[in-house]
Amino acid sequence: MLTPITFHDGVIELIDQTRLPQGVVTLTVRDYRELAAAIREMRVRGAPAIGIAAAYGVVLGIQALTDGAVLDEHFKKVIEELTATRPTARNLFWALERMTQVFRENRDTGLEFLRETLLDEAKRIHEEDIEANKRIGSYGAKLIPDGATILTHCNAGALATGGYGTALGIVRAAWEAGKLKKVLVDETRPRLQGARLTAWELKQDGIPFELITDSMAGSFMACGEVDAVVVGADRIARNGDTANKIGTYPLAVLAHHHKVPFYVAAPTSTVDPTIRNGSQIPIEERDPSEVTQMRDVRIAPEGVNVRNPSFDVTPAGLITAIVTEQGVFRSPLSEAIENVLHG
Ligand code: MRU
Repeated sequence: MLTPITFHDGVIELIDQTRLPQGVVTLTVRDYRELAAAIREMRVRGAPAIGIAAAYGVVLGIQALTDGAVLDEHFKKVIEELTATRPTARNLFWALERMTQVFRENRDTGLEFLRETLLDEAKRIHEEDIEANKRIGSYGAKLIPDGATILTHCNAGALATGGYGTALGIVRAAWEAGKLKKVLVDETRPRLQGARLTAWELKQDGIPFELITDSMAGSFMACGEVDAVVVGADRIARNGDTANKIGTYPLAVLAHHHKVPFYVAAPTSTVDPTIRNGSQIPIEERDPSEVTQMRDVRIAPEGVNVRNPSFDVTPAGLITAIVTEQGVFRSPLSEAIENVLHG
């Protein structure tokens, strides 16, 4: 299984996702500030993968410290720096909250023991994510009809998680169950996670797919060529409204119009208990050059005004079900989510 993040001998190794599909380049990260930069630059990306990488980043932060007298101050700085990287991905904050809790409980145990305890927690976060994805895959595959074409957006695959993937976890499980005909992969402007990353992953696994531009999805739905849309999530509000890669919301509107089921695949760690509805989800706005350039090639005139929100919010009412490791949540989503938060 493809594991995009590993931690060994005091360093994090990441598959540098900005270098795919041209080559599989491993980035070795030794310092928490380098890790923060790797998250900001999307060398590691996808909400669960960001959370896992940040948890290991906390370990790097503590291992660099030699003077126990400034432990609290230093830990605060590490958390602040990692927190400030990507504002929408709930799993980032969730993982840092878990690491902070473990730090508080073990801060007086000595630097060496503290580091080991934090590393154990980061590994647990990582392993639990892979396990959650397997469960999401197996719950989700049951929803997919025989001979199905699944349309997906962005990359919610192994690269975006600890391994196996959420939306692509369902794709993989449906393929393993012999139910899948093919995947339609949205290219996902502007960062092309579909074209560069999802297409690369599916090709590695020998899963049949066709790459399409984002604007083609409606036409394929109108022709009856899409049996289900399956996407990931960056943050889920308590009422089920879901933030995911820009372009997800129009897909949900199209799916609703064409009566195609629209599934969100995500671990429950993506649910934000502090957010009541989608309007409260912070949406990251990224650099205009992502829109005016394709890699290094300028595709718009100099000096144009640009908007570049990286995520949009799909209202709960357009979501057929949210597939989690705890089962399939259907309408009313808010009730299922409250049960998880209080269970
Ligand atoms: O900007 P990105 O590439 O980090 O956005 C990723 C997505 O929108 C994914 O769909 C989401 O994080 C879920 S990944 C399992």
